[in-house]
Amino acid sequence: MNIYYPPQFWKNKKLLFGITGGISAFKVAGYVSHLVQAGSDIQVIMTESAQQFIGKNTFSALTRKPVYTDLFESGEKILHIHLMREYECFVVAPATANIIGKMAGGIGDDLLSSCFFVDPKKVIFAPAMNVDMWHNPIVQENIKKLIAIGVRVIIPSSGNLACGERGEGRLPEQEEFLEALYYLLCSPQPLQGKKVLITAGPTREYIDPIRYLTNSSSGLMGCSLAAAARARGADVTLIAGPMSVRIPSGIHFLPIVSTQDLKTAVLEQYDKTDICIMNAAVADYRPSNISTVKIKKQGKSELILNLIQNPDILSELGRRKVSQVLVGFCAEDGDIVTEARQKLQQKNCDVMVANQILTGESGFEVDKNKAWFLNKNGEMIDIPLMSKMELAEIIIDQIGAFYFS
Ligand code: C5P
Repeated sequence: MNIYYPPQFWKNKKLLFGITGGISAFKVAGYVSHLVQAGSDIQVIMTESAQQFIGKNTFSALTRKPVYTDLFESGEKILHIHLMREYECFVVAPATANIIGKMAGGIGDDLLSSCFFVDPKKVIFAPAMNVDMWHNPIVQENIKKLIAIGVRVIIPSSGNLACGERGEGRLPEQEEFLEALYYLLCSPQPLQGKKVLITAGPTREYIDPIRYLTNSSSGLMGCSLAAAARARGADVTLIAGPMSVRIPSGIHFLPIVSTQDLKTAVLEQYDKTDICIMNAAVADYRPSNISTVKIKKQGKSELILNLIQNPDILSELGRRKVSQVLVGFCAEDGDIVTEARQKLQQKNCDVMVANQILTGESGFEVDKNKAWFLNKNGEMIDIPLMSKMELAEIIIDQIGAFYFS
């Protein structure tokens, strides 16, 4: 499972979870368990009907503290005020049509709905319900009303619903849910409103209809960069060849196959881009002819492929650069920093990130990377071996600090 948030992000986070009466309440037990293990302080409150779907004891065992259900149970403290002051956000998941309606309509008749009125800006809703209920105009109107006063929403995903129907209304799976929460809680957001274009993964250069030349790039580094940029407020477009990793949520995704497809797609986006990060492991050569039929052995003891050079997209982007911040990646096994410095200049980039490859623990197909971050002012940061998600955050923060602070 690929996760596009740094696990340490959750350490010491104080999160209040409100669970209402929907079948997907069982999924929240998984989220809570993960967050507690990652070091968060989680307090759960439940409505009466939530307890029809999952027991209080499940959450008190997972959080190692009592679950609150009653507005009047705390004694000396006014519970809803105390909880909303104490915790940094209030995640209502699943949020039923009923709780959404109560909050939009100003009804606070139990602990959970009363918490909402203390500080709506701390509230994050994750609606989950039947597809027709979700598309009911009253529900949609209520959601708009809540967003207008600063409530944040994790939009439900599409798929099979517990009622047997299909459509929008599912509570997102754990990795997507936590990714969405990471995006909402990440602060500051220096790239708010910036358009970021990222390329990732390998390209495929077909030889015949079923065979191709490629490389072992998984796409993990590019996807991690996309999530880190999204978490810092950017509007992210990811262009990528066939990857072996999950695509992060909340971004625009444009699939491509060959280097020439990549060039067309990137050039289409480039003019409206503020930051362009070329992380794709692009094939430098492609077969000069693609056979339209499967190449047969037919007694041949050898097969010679003629290859021609692919366009160098990064150099082309360097030539066309107006105000974009252009970031290249290079994977090297020799004198990494010298080569990266030369490429930074030759390709007219603003930043070059050099990766160490062929060490076994860094680079392609592994989840860690060792890198050097170089900018065109001649500054360099030597970044130690770390997870690609942690490295992605450092790279995006450096770009933000250098160009957008
Ligand atoms: O020159 P080199 O291939 O090492 O440069 C790597 C950088 O150039 C990466 O950012 C990669 O995405 C990009 N690239 C490209 N077009 C190519 C080859 C690489 O844009 N044909």
